[in-house]
Amino acid sequence: MKIVIASDHAGFFLKEKIKDYLQNEGYEILDVGTYSSVSVDYPEFAFKAIEKLLQGEAERGILLCGTGIGMSIFANRFPKIRAALCHEPFSATMARKHNDANVLVLGGRLIGDGLAVEIVKAFLSTEFEGGRHARRIALIDELSSKIER
Ligand code: RB5
Repeated sequence: MKIVIASDHAGFFLKEKIKDYLQNEGYEILDVGTYSSVSVDYPEFAFKAIEKLLQGEAERGILLCGTGIGMSIFANRFPKIRAALCHEPFSATMARKHNDANVLVLGGRLIGDGLAVEIVKAFLSTEFEGGRHARRIALIDELSSKIER
């Protein structure tokens, strides 16, 4: 599975840890930055990752900023993106099972490396359950398209 990963400066160190973990596990990683802890604007980096996902260059995305909130707000503006901000593995599992989340968002200033890796594992190893959850996801697209943004 190919994964696109992006962070701002506040998520940079955790991005590097997660990248190491994923590469050791044999995942193909597309790192679209940022590449240092110098202050940057998170929407720019979320956009780079989302572009890759929507162009089909990666199957899943992982975004990191300080809290994960800015990245989540931005990512969820795109109709085909379902981004889940998770602070523990249960949420990551449910985000896949019930919400078919294709982007995991993490807060680099909130969680440590070990917990982050467990969250990533849960996110990447869980399948969408479909059924009634697919109907609800279709409703998200249908109802949100009724009001022009
Ligand atoms: C950067 O200081 C911080 O605002 C950003 O990483 C993020 O937490 C925004 O939601």
